[in-house]
Amino acid sequence: MAVIDFHTHVLPGIDDGSRHALESLDMLKLEAEQGIDSVVATSHFYAKHDRISSFLNRRQDSFETLQRAISQEYANSDSKSTEQLHKDLPRIYLGAEVAFFDGISRADDIHKLTVEGTNLLLLEMPFGRWTSGNMEEVRYLVHHSGLQIMLVHLERFLLVPENKKKIYELLELPCILQVNAGSMLKWKTRGQSLKLFKTKGSGILGSDAHGTDYRAPNLAAGREVLAKKLGQSFLDEMDRLGAELLADATVPVI
Ligand SMILES: [Fe+2]
Repeated sequence: MAVIDFHTHVLPGIDDGSRHALESLDMLKLEAEQGIDSVVATSHFYAKHDRISSFLNRRQDSFETLQRAISQEYANSDSKSTEQLHKDLPRIYLGAEVAFFDGISRADDIHKLTVEGTNLLLLEMPFGRWTSGNMEEVRYLVHHSGLQIMLVHLERFLLVPENKKKIYELLELPCILQVNAGSMLKWKTRGQSLKLFKTKGSGILGSDAHGTDYRAPNLAAGREVLAKKLGQSFLDEMDRLGAELLADATVPVI
């Protein structure tokens, strides 16, 4: 079963993730070394500062810059063919990490921010205290938008104690739980992250990698902890769900 990293900031120069194409290339190599077959590029989208159309244009430009860097790497390599290097690096799918905003559930064109070719939308909840209006809007999005909602790094919002009950309410919705691998690696956050997985009964681990030094790809280490704590069968089920989510995804070509 293919191993997929659903949450990465691997595209260069578009958000607070990879700063340039060579860093992106190094991130992809780290992912490959960890046995990751595919990554979803989930650059930040903030409705407050951006329009969907300009975000998509910048994302395409960034992706093309990365593809050129990969081609250049092939050209510089004596021992490997372009084809081989392509095979060595994970496949990249284009998506977005969409920050919650008031009105998101009824926003035109929000479907354009799904992982390309799918109806999967990665939603980042607000970092402050959630209101009942926020909750209503997520419920509406889950039930009426026709999109499949993946709630990213839900464990991070436990930092606001008032959100705890609401986080568990969200787990009851037909949506997908995503936890960051880094949260499995720190004893302080491991227990509560495992509890989210156990409560939901399923979920996706993502690296939320931002670079090669700071918040570097760490999915393999997180998977190891998860397998140890919840069993290999939980991990197998996670990979099966991941494959299903990307079954219709398109691979971008330039
Ligand atoms: Fe992220």
